Amino acid sequence: MTVEEFFDKVITVRMKEDRSALDIIDQTLLPGTIKRIRISTKEEIWEAIKKLKVRGAPAIGAAAAYGIALLSSRITADRYETFYPEFKELKDYLASSRPTAVNLFWALNRMDRTVAANQEKDVAEIKELLFQEADAIREEDVQISRVIGEIGFGLLEELKQEGKEIGIMTHCNAGTLATAKYGTATAPMYIALEKGWPGTAMHVYCDETRPLLQGARLTSFELYNAGITTTLQCDNMASILMQSGKIDIIFVGCDRVAMNGDSANKIGTSGVAILAKHYGIPFYVCAPTSTIDMDTPTGKEIPIEMRSPDEVTQMWYKERMAPEGIHVYNPAFDVTDHSLITGIITEKGMCHAPFDKAFEILGIGK
Ligand code: MRU
Repeated sequence: MTVEEFFDKVITVRMKEDRSALDIIDQTLLPGTIKRIRISTKEEIWEAIKKLKVRGAPAIGAAAAYGIALLSSRITADRYETFYPEFKELKDYLASSRPTAVNLFWALNRMDRTVAANQEKDVAEIKELLFQEADAIREEDVQISRVIGEIGFGLLEELKQEGKEIGIMTHCNAGTLATAKYGTATAPMYIALEKGWPGTAMHVYCDETRPLLQGARLTSFELYNAGITTTLQCDNMASILMQSGKIDIIFVGCDRVAMNGDSANKIGTSGVAILAKHYGIPFYVCAPTSTIDMDTPTGKEIPIEMRSPDEVTQMWYKERMAPEGIHVYNPAFDVTDHSLITGIITEKGMCHAPFDKAFEILGIGK
């Protein structure tokens, strides 16, 4: 299977041709089962996002955009004045599914602006424009990830030495399964393959990513299928790997970047960044500008999703692996302090500290 064929097989989210439902790959079943499912009611769409059947910041944004387009197409009101309140109610409902990834709110607000900007038109026309906007969000994501990948590939080229593989670490899944095609943190590797590098030129070390195992189930699955040399390690093995000199560079994705560059990503990312600083390894955050939230001044203001204790105590075990009644701490994300970040790679260019100035220069948030 070529990488393109693999990408096609695992498309995260798309609209059914007859516009009757969203067609998503159920990521909770990977890697053992590659199964596409239809989701069409508001509860199914909300639940798919909440339960991580569709996950990863850009994919959540695309799912919400297609979701609101589909649900809006069923609103019976035929005047804008009665259509909009129903649209708004659906939008707020989908927005309540997960709190951290700003792409969810970004995509829903973009859909809202599409409605508002076309309020003079027939409701039927507004409904059609919503489907088109959702398609645009998805298609733009492919191009955005590609550019992020090109910039990241430039860093890999600088590290290339004859006869030596480049050691790359990543955390969670910011891959094709989290986006529309290339991923963000994986985009440099996929671009390297497109440019003719053999998969053995790179060796990607994937953190398992407790508790939901996105690194084990998703990232190692997709990179291995793409033919890239891939090693999976438990999260607590990151330090020894870095110490051993095997890691040359780290790429991670993110769910929300604050104005000062503080970046929220999957729980454990900030630990990886602290280790990277200690061992002198460059640590890059790959962020489409839709993930940069100029309304959030620092990481302290980023809402962190807390998830069910079961994910820690029993979800992956044959039997429960912690005493009944034990207190469980299960935040889904943490914030990497901007001082630990070598660069934030966006589709508008590479940003270095001070990040607020860099964002301003690139016109981010305007
Ligand atoms: O809880 P998840 O699996 O949605 O968390 C995903 C991540 O943390 C990703 O790194 C992030 O969304 C970036 S995806 C390009």
